[in-house]
Amino acid sequence: MEGAFATSRPACKVQPLLARKAGALAGTALVPGDKSISQRALILGAMARGETRISGLLESGDVTSTAGAVRELGAGVSRSQEGRWQVSGVGVGNWRQAGSALDFGNSGTGSRLMMGAVATTPITTIFTGDASLRSRPMARVLQPLTRFGMRYEAQGERALMPVTVFGAGKAKPADIAVTIASAQVKSALLLAALNAKGESSVTQPARTRDHTEKMLAAFGADIRVETLAGGGERIHIRDAADLHGCDIEVPRDPSSAAFPLVAALIVPDSEIHLPAILLNPRRTGLIESLLEMGADIRIENRRTSGGEEMGDLIVRHSRLKGVTVPPERAPSMIDEYPILAVAAAFAEGDTVMQGLEELRVKESDRLSAIARGLEANGVAVVESPDALTVRGRGVAQGGGTVSTHMDHRIAMAFLTLGLAAKEPVTVDDITMIATSFPGYRALMQSLGAEFMVPER
Ligand code: S3P
Repeated sequence: MEGAFATSRPACKVQPLLARKAGALAGTALVPGDKSISQRALILGAMARGETRISGLLESGDVTSTAGAVRELGAGVSRSQEGRWQVSGVGVGNWRQAGSALDFGNSGTGSRLMMGAVATTPITTIFTGDASLRSRPMARVLQPLTRFGMRYEAQGERALMPVTVFGAGKAKPADIAVTIASAQVKSALLLAALNAKGESSVTQPARTRDHTEKMLAAFGADIRVETLAGGGERIHIRDAADLHGCDIEVPRDPSSAAFPLVAALIVPDSEIHLPAILLNPRRTGLIESLLEMGADIRIENRRTSGGEEMGDLIVRHSRLKGVTVPPERAPSMIDEYPILAVAAAFAEGDTVMQGLEELRVKESDRLSAIARGLEANGVAVVESPDALTVRGRGVAQGGGTVSTHMDHRIAMAFLTLGLAAKEPVTVDDITMIATSFPGYRALMQSLGAEFMVPER
């Protein structure tokens, strides 16, 4: 498995792919493990004492780059079989000085969480990544982290990579209020607080995904969540020298399930099953929106595993109608707007999506990438700085080529469009899909998707 640690990047050769109108999709789709939980399992496992045993780990570019980073910082990381990984932690505050820069490839989550994880240990760590990651703002994480006494050097006002973090020795606790609703920022601050003597707190304007809080509690941290009027939250956390390793079962990723799910909704006569999908209420905004649009999605066997809710989804082709998706729902479906916009193209009427300013700083400027991709395929849109309206007409023309801008979710969303559009849709590069959903192409083809390499 040495190779997976060494290469955090998919092959650099661009690979276009074309999707064309498919017959009914049918079958069972076993999508891979949740990316957010996989990242956190490796990082917390590395920060705890003793062994953490993980099953269902997502083995994608983003996750293996984090595995490589924690290994470089002294943790033992091994893989016994597909999805089964063991982490032997160093203990909070005991990271080893890395011998070289940590390369996070395409992963915003891995890099930002690790900036927090090293911020309160007196080591110097250099963070870098691919062209997409090097264009994403790190100031949102680094500036609040200075409150613990750390220092950093980065490129320009937005603190682009390469970033050097000079971790604080004897870090002091802090009460930090951030203005951006971001689980990555919140998580980085919570991880830093683990080695700052005393109680710290992190206040956020909205309730974002809470996997870090849940997992920290399971590892034995002293953590308490206070919900605030107006939708915000404050998390109180004490330093924790004695986090202990855990057994973690990673549920299947709802953000990956979203692609076959919407494909089944828009391709006539389809019916697919998606077993064991994570249904944490802070991740289910897409399902909520699709149900409002009239989608036939049944949830069976709701259960809890390792503190996380999950269930089996049965999805059938549906006639969809346009809806308004309110801004307060954005944190619970922040990664799902590209695929919701594709569903909206096949709905009757306008779908209005608001509160999307964060989409501008994802793996690409997703708001613009979605709008340009839909226009290229004959779907009318109205784009504003923080909102998008898709003018659905029940059908989409297709026939366009979509620029993915190194963004895995743009690639998968527009391949989905091609499965139901009148004419084939080409995406310019699918290599980045491996950062989150390595088996995507084979899985979709097993359901009946028609993909082919376009002629040049
Ligand atoms: C993630 C948080 C979200 C999301 C990303 C994963 C996480 O980012 O877009 O794909 O695992 O914490 P933000 O925290 O920037 O919203």
